[in-house]
Parts: sequence; C-alpha cells; structure tokens
Amino acid sequence: MKPIGTPLSPTATRVMLLGSGELGKEVLIALQRLGVETIAVDRYDNAPGQQVAHHARTITMSDPAQLKALIEAERPHLVVPEIEAIATSMLQELEAAGTVRVIPTARAARLTMDREGIRRLAAETLGLPTSPFKFCDSQAGLQTAIDGTSGNDNAKGNPKGNPKGIGYPCIVKPVMSSSGKGQSRIDGPADVQKAWDYAMAGGRVGPGRVIVEGVIDFDYEITLLTVRAVSADGQVETHFCEPIGHIQVSGDYVESWQPHPMHPAALQRAREISKAVTDNLGQGLDGQSTGLGLFGVELFVKGEDVWFSEVSPRPHDTGMVTMCTQWQNEFELHARAILGLPVNTALKSPGASAVIYGGVDAKGIVFDGVADALRVPNTDVRLFGKPESFVKRRMGVALAFDADVQVARRHAKLAASRVKPRSSWSDVLSPST
Ligand SMILES: Nc1ncnc2c1ncn2[C@@H]1O[C@H](COP(=O)(O)OP(=O)(O)OP(=O)(O)O)[C@@H](O)[C@H]1O
Ligand SMILES: [Mg+2]
Repeated sequence: MKPIGTPLSPTATRVMLLGSGELGKEVLIALQRLGVETIAVDRYDNAPGQQVAHHARTITMSDPAQLKALIEAERPHLVVPEIEAIATSMLQELEAAGTVRVIPTARAARLTMDREGIRRLAAETLGLPTSPFKFCDSQAGLQTAIDGTSGNDNAKGNPKGNPKGIGYPCIVKPVMSSSGKGQSRIDGPADVQKAWDYAMAGGRVGPGRVIVEGVIDFDYEITLLTVRAVSADGQVETHFCEPIGHIQVSGDYVESWQPHPMHPAALQRAREISKAVTDNLGQGLDGQSTGLGLFGVELFVKGEDVWFSEVSPRPHDTGMVTMCTQWQNEFELHARAILGLPVNTALKSPGASAVIYGGVDAKGIVFDGVADALRVPNTDVRLFGKPESFVKRRMGVALAFDADVQVARRHAKLAASRVKPRSSWSDVLSPST
C-alpha cells in the first residue's frame, strides 16, 4: 500500500464502501480519522454512512453495469463491500482486470453473498463441522430433504438419527437473505408449507433456493472477530478478539456482550475453525492468501464442541459491542487492517450492546428518552440516522461497559429500553412546542 495521502488532493488515498448502513458508517468514520478520502455508496440517499463521507453515491449495487460504471468513474484504491447484495461477479471481473482491489478479496465477497457458497466451502472443501444441511428449490424438494431419499448422505450428523434426511426439527433459510429474513423453524410436517412460503417471501432475489439445516442444540453461540493484518515483517498475520456472546430473536441480533467465557478447548477449536475459513477467504485469484481485513465468524458451542455457522468478511452487527469494549473497535480494526497498518485486538473492559428498534413505520422519526438512557451508568447510545424507520428496523444501539459483564448487559438493555422512537407528525404540525 502506498503512503496515506491528503483527502481531496491528487495524493488522496481513496476508499469506496459498498453499503453505507450503521456498520459502514463506523468504518467510514475510522477511515476519515486516518485521513482517507471516502466514497459512501448505497441504494438510497442519505444512508447513515453517506452522512459522514466525503462523497455520497446512490446506485443499485446488484446491477453489474451500474457498479462497473461507478468504480471506473471513481477509481478508488480499495473497494470495501459492506453488504452482501452486490454484483460480486463484476467485482471479480474488475479485480482480475487490475482495475481495483476488493476487501478482503472479490472471491470472498462472492462466496459469502449466498449461503451455498460459504457452506459448501466450509463443510465440503475445508471439512469443518457444520449443522447437517441440504439445498432445495421447491416445497416438494424440501419435504424430500427432510424425509430423505436413498443416496443422500449430508445428514450424517443428524442428531435424530435419520440416516437419509435432515429430520425434525430443522431450520429453513433462503440462500440469499440476512438478519433472519425468511428464516423459520420446522418442528413437524404441518410446518413445512408455511416455512417454504415464508422463505419465498423473505429471500433477497425473489423465489428461489433454500437451505434446510438440522438444529444444533448449542449451549451458546459466539461471534469470533478475526483480523488478517500485515505484520512487521510484511506477512499476513491472524489476530483474534475476545469471543462475543449474543442472543438472536427470529434470526436477528438483539443483544451482545464481550467477553463470553469459554472452555479453553472450545476457544482453541473456535480459533482453528476461524483461521481455516479466513485463510481460505483471504485467497485471491492467484491463490495467495493475501486478503486483509476483519471477519465475523459465527460459531455454535456445546461443551468442547464447536460448529461453524457462517462468516461475514467484514465487521459484524454483534461486534458493535466493541465500540465500548476494545481499544480498537471492530471498525477501526477493519480500517487499519485494509490499509496495511498494525492492529491491536486487546479488550479494554467487558461490556454489552442492546439494539434499539424503530417500533414504528415512519420517515423522519424522533427519539425521546435519550437523556434518560444516558443516565444509566457507563452507557453510550448510537443513533444511526436512518431516514426511514420500520417497526423491526435497527435504528440505534445502546452500549454499556462494566467489570461485570452481567451488569453491563443489564445496563445496555435498560438504556436501550429508555430510548423511545416515535413518529414525528405532531412535531411537524406544531414546530414551536
Ligand atoms: N442450524 C442451526 N441450529 C441452531 N440454531 C440456528 C441454526 N441456524 C441458525 N440458527 C439460529 O438463527 C440465527 C440466525 O441464523 P443465521 O446466522 O444463519 O441467519 P442470518 O439471517 O444470516 O442472520 P444474520 O444476518 O443476523 O447473521 C443464528 O445465529 C442461530 O441463533
Ligand atoms: Mg448469522
């Protein structure tokens, strides 16, 4: 990497974020602090990250032609995908042509954009433990995947002992979806149709393919933030943050904390799995593992057993807790790593995060109770500035630190509950009150 230049001058180091939501916003802030010129791209105007970048661009990122035109016009030094719904084959083309460098690699962006690419890589190429799984394209296919037919052996690990099918209970997810959209659990034959219909409605690209997975009866789940950064001798080195515990409701994160205590053998295994996956995703076109950046590796843990679930080749929503727990939060770690700078993953204090949902469907909402929230000891609040709220849209997050992680969790939840988003119509009607 060349030395960092001066923004808005010919020497500028220019970085383009593809996706400028709350996670992209924090990456942009971290880059700004290092004197990088930033270009925030999203599919709608005034996205959170666009509000803090040098340049804001609005395009359909899943459209290869629009993506190519923008990258060729802006010529950033680095392109940093922050969401999954991007024309990743075009990124691969542009990377192969030497037009741009993609973080961590265009290949990683493509493999993780749908559940099939990353699951087959982890389970079949790398032989890592995962839930038993099958892919299907129809409701009949889903039923067969659950019941089993001869010749299929993906369900060997099925705890219910059905050697041919996934069995019940199982979980169905569209291959292209995130934050639990279209995801549901099937406990018996009566649930199959509902789960199929729900998956078809919730997928990112309309009706299509699903993964059906056996349910892992885990004790807890973690995100292991894993950073690939350049060491003093110029080699790529892997660093791990302390494990982050989290709670998901309907497949969406509502609460996270760090550190989550782990049996040393489970921690060791979690690190081995994370290293195997990130080493592979760090491989570019030339097969060299040179890709840089932070990854969020999602793992299920039961006793000393660890299963790989999925991975984001970028900061992770549950990792927002690091804004109050680490000397360098996950966004700063990502920014440093991709610029070829050294990183420090040390913990500053145990802490927790709790999500603030919109609670209303409205544009230009207002937030009551922020002062009350901040009166909870050792807390902080981030409001993302999203122009439009939905009942289940993440609009902010509360953070709390404390030597006792349980106290931090309680405080983060209390602070989040005190922030009351509401529709602003009454303020608009009577601006003086
Ligand atoms: N096979 C499984 N066994 C047990 N629990 C599961 C399984 N698959 C998913 N879950 C639960 O559902 C949550 C969401 O699943 P997953 O991470 O695959 O979906 P997602 O839509 O990608 O979510 P996100 O985008 O928020 O990470 C998991 O964190 C876990 O709590
Ligand atoms: Mg997940």
